[in-house]
Amino acid sequence: MKKGISIKNLTKVFVINQKNKVVAVDDVTLEVKPGEFVTLLGPSGCGKTTLLRMIAGFETLTAGDIYIGEENIGAQTPDKRDTAMVFQNYALFPHMNVFDNIAYGLKIRKLPKTEIKQRVQKILDLMKMNDFAHRVPAQMSGGQQQRVSLARALVMEPGVLLFDEPLSNLDAKLRIHMRDEIRKIQKEVGITSIYVTHDQSEAMGLSDKIVIMKDGVIQQIGTPREIYQKPINAFVAGFIGKTNVVEGKIMSTNNSNYEVDIQGITHMVKSDNKLSVGDKVSMMLRPESIIVEGEQYDGIVTKSMFMGENHEYEVKWNDQILQISESNPFGRDIYEIGDTMKIGFDEKALHIL
Ligand SMILES: Nc1ncnc2c1ncn2[C@@H]1O[C@H](COP(=O)(O)OP(=O)(O)OP(=O)(O)O)[C@@H](O)[C@H]1O
Ligand SMILES: [Mg+2]
Repeated sequence: MKKGISIKNLTKVFVINQKNKVVAVDDVTLEVKPGEFVTLLGPSGCGKTTLLRMIAGFETLTAGDIYIGEENIGAQTPDKRDTAMVFQNYALFPHMNVFDNIAYGLKIRKLPKTEIKQRVQKILDLMKMNDFAHRVPAQMSGGQQQRVSLARALVMEPGVLLFDEPLSNLDAKLRIHMRDEIRKIQKEVGITSIYVTHDQSEAMGLSDKIVIMKDGVIQQIGTPREIYQKPINAFVAGFIGKTNVVEGKIMSTNNSNYEVDIQGITHMVKSDNKLSVGDKVSMMLRPESIIVEGEQYDGIVTKSMFMGENHEYEVKWNDQILQISESNPFGRDIYEIGDTMKIGFDEKALHIL
């Protein structure tokens, strides 16, 4: 049942009219290992849904190939593919109760009644939904309906599970609860999953791998940590988490170790980029990697906001504003707007773009 997905040079062009076309997915190549949970993340219109729909068989391919396991599925109709999809709007049958909604796909496949009953019961147990079995969708909350829609996909025991922003209609707290639940069940069942979202914390929390897309093109593929700590360009850095970009100049090189001058102070920075003395570089530095009361630079506080688990500052530093996040600033005064703040850069966290 566990199968990988192999996407090769996939392109989708929508023809709007004789003059206009949209390249929604542009030469995308992506490997998803069996059992892996991969998230497609990117701004509105970057091609996430289109890519997912091509895998499910709801869109034709303009070019390229999709394999599930060893099988090239690019020309198959959706019902022939070993995929199931969970939608944003649940797409449940309003007149059917939970049990029948979950059983529907199995009935279409003409499985024996006893087997259908067993399989639906197994999923109801797995998702702790026995109490809801006889309710119709209108008698349930959004979160409960979304669980039914997940159950309906899982009961098909597909090789590949596809999610298109399944949690975006839920409130913040329920979203986190459901996110954890999806991850738990996905691990338990071990289904290869592709999950579309534009919520970065959802992507970070759920994924083995994150795929960042822009204008139909993959920008970077990596673990949540790689994407957060080593984004390959300013777009990725800015898309996932808050970030600062500071400019510097290479003063000396030693293999992958560089001495970088930033505003008259030298920092040791590691990078896999090939750089030479005199090169100007842009570096990313996350808000939590700027040290409050570090002894390197002076800045003027322009925003000061207590957020509970951390305190967020904006600090004017030379010609730019730095975002700074300090966690649990106990036992120390908070800086107010207009205060001078001494700051330092955590060299390990400086990442050359
Ligand atoms: N059926 C269609 N006909 C023409 N253009 C389309 C069609 N479907 C999508 N597009 C265009 O393709 C591009 C990608 O759309 P897609 O729905 O895949 O984006 P998305 O990343 O899912 O965005 P969102 O986060 O808003 O859901 C957009 O420019 C969109 O306008
Ligand atoms: Mg979409």
